[in-house]
Amino acid sequence: MGSFVLLLASILASWTLLSREPRVHALEDGVAKLPVLGYNTWNAYGCGISEAAVLSDAHMLVSLGLRDVGYTHVNIDDCYAEKNRSASGDIVASAARFPSGMNNLTDQIHALNMCYSDSGWYTCAHYPVTPHSFLTLHDRDAKLFQDWGFDYLKFDNCAIPYDDIIRQGIVGKYERIATAIAQLAQDTGKPPLILSLCEWGNEQPWLWAKRFGQSWRTTGDINTSWGSITSIINQNSFITWASDFFGHNDMDMVCADPSTSSGNSGITHEEAKTHFTAWALMKSPLLIGTNLSAISQDNLSILKNQEILAINQDPVVGTSVSPFRWGINPNWVSNSTHPAQYWSGESQNGTVFMLINTLSKPADMFFSLTESPWIRAGRQYAVRDLWTHTDNGTAIRNFTAKAVPAHGVVALLLTDAGDEPPSSGPPCAVLQWCMDKNGTLAPGA
Ligand code: GAL
Repeated sequence: MGSFVLLLASILASWTLLSREPRVHALEDGVAKLPVLGYNTWNAYGCGISEAAVLSDAHMLVSLGLRDVGYTHVNIDDCYAEKNRSASGDIVASAARFPSGMNNLTDQIHALNMCYSDSGWYTCAHYPVTPHSFLTLHDRDAKLFQDWGFDYLKFDNCAIPYDDIIRQGIVGKYERIATAIAQLAQDTGKPPLILSLCEWGNEQPWLWAKRFGQSWRTTGDINTSWGSITSIINQNSFITWASDFFGHNDMDMVCADPSTSSGNSGITHEEAKTHFTAWALMKSPLLIGTNLSAISQDNLSILKNQEILAINQDPVVGTSVSPFRWGINPNWVSNSTHPAQYWSGESQNGTVFMLINTLSKPADMFFSLTESPWIRAGRQYAVRDLWTHTDNGTAIRNFTAKAVPAHGVVALLLTDAGDEPPSSGPPCAVLQWCMDKNGTLAPGA
């Protein structure tokens, strides 16, 4: 009991000291300004990972052309370690799964022009962690990961200690790892590890996590069903404001493959397009969770849509699309099977629109352009379709997407094409409250 009290006292003392330190501003770290694009082993392999599988997938990112469109991170998730630390206290790479050692692997992957990533100081499959009760391990483990050649750290949240250990609160809990990463970068002169927080949205990380890391999971684990996809879109529709450069809502893996059974059966081609479009335009990291050796041509071409990827990776505008109208629900209603349908956002090349048909039958989708805050009244807009890759004429005042397939998506880029023609109709596109200076409402209002 005596030693427990001593330990607790020293933790609290350390925390008090820690909290007097200046805040860590991950936003100023300079890494991961844009959402990270890459591959993650978890959804395809779970704990069945191996050096050979990871290397094979890294090579497949190249041979399938995924690296060249931006998917450059290869992330190992859980189960990469031995169950016990070494006598000196380090995490030990699994000899059975990674017989050549981590440096050998990261050297080979960096030679392919990729970054390498790691998961789980604190794993859900019961591998070694950085316990909150032993403060020094944050520094030790961060250094080991950097020495192993990793660039990215996924920090999971399983098996959290009782409250008497984590009295520092949720913010303090993450401050330790962020401080260790910042200190390591300062000591070594190397870029800080990218920190990806994974507490599934439990503690509203969109309110605080950008102080510490570059992304934070907003929901539980995805499964590739339409219900899981719409539920994640719905939850994220209320927090789109939180994503911007250097800090992103992480909607979990992109793992929807309409035509393979690698954990991805059960969704249609249209649903897979909607999944990818929503994740990309909402500026989520895009981490492919499909087994690449079984990937379908259909899914590959969805993941390689460069016009959609260009919005996700926009170096000038970092913000997400947001709903301007919910559609079949009244605005602001949470509905996990029928999330918001009408979305828009800014980009360096114009205004992006995303329309999701949440119905299980085709539907026409109509909106007035100025329902989007990024559109100017009295202008006409050239319409680019980001899925058909065609220029579809000019939109004046409104737009109708005809016969959007069940659960399908339309992604458009509208660019200003000058004043609308003089004969474009009444003085205002939206008539309610449209008034002349003499106080008379517009005809028809
Ligand atoms: C979960 C996490 C998954 C995966 C898994 C590994 O907490 O949400 O993405 O990392 O742990 O055990």
